[in-house]
Amino acid sequence: PMVGELFGLTDLAERLQRKLGIAEVIVVSGNADQSPWVKEELGRVGARVLKQVISEGDIVAVTGGSSIASVAKHLSPSAAFRSVQFVPARGGLGERVELQANTLASAMAAKTGATYRLLHVPDRLHPEALQTLLKEPQVQDVLSLLGEARIVLHGIGDAMTMAKRRNYSEDELQELEAAGAVSEAFGYYFDEAGVTVQRMPTIGLQLEEVHKAEKVLSIAGGESKAKAILSFAKQSCQNVLITDEGAARSLLST
Ligand code: F6P
Repeated sequence: PMVGELFGLTDLAERLQRKLGIAEVIVVSGNADQSPWVKEELGRVGARVLKQVISEGDIVAVTGGSSIASVAKHLSPSAAFRSVQFVPARGGLGERVELQANTLASAMAAKTGATYRLLHVPDRLHPEALQTLLKEPQVQDVLSLLGEARIVLHGIGDAMTMAKRRNYSEDELQELEAAGAVSEAFGYYFDEAGVTVQRMPTIGLQLEEVHKAEKVLSIAGGESKAKAILSFAKQSCQNVLITDEGAARSLLST
């Protein structure tokens, strides 16, 4: 039997807390790889935690992805959100529009009664185009807001899964694999030791800014993300991890 099979969700969470060095870990039942309702549950818990930590005037940086989209789905209006701003952490990052950070920031604002900003930056820009965009006052405005984010709400992906979702070519995939990429978050690819091995050419929240944020909430479940969760945890920047049993049991058996 797999290690941890005899443990309840609270025990799993406590053991993960210790293994990953994250202050608060919440484990929902099931495996998101297998059952769609598990992602719903991750979103429901994510929305509840966000509501608990939010305070007036907060800037919340949000990433894209289906886990964060699920959080958006489960948010509801509350007075505490009125002076809150949701700001997309990065440009599109190769996601479908429904899953892009811009879309989720506006959806979260609509759900809660907060306001939002948009980051109009296309994916995989040429360095010159990037430099030009960086000079745009609108873009600079959003970037400085991101630098002040008190809360960061983000997803974590398996590196190769994300590269494929972003339509990397065979050569690019091979290069990433050779670099030892295991996890991806904020457009950064990390290896097993948590070291950055590659970055997406886009602008937005910097890893240093994630480290400076007061509350970093990660939402990632599914057995297939176990290695990625472990790799990103090496950054030691997370306050809360919301995950599922599938990822938790797999993580604890390695
Ligand atoms: O592309 C945005 C992003 O947040 C990535 O940084 C992350 O790897 C991914 O989405 C997670 O997506 P999902 O929650 O759908 O697995």
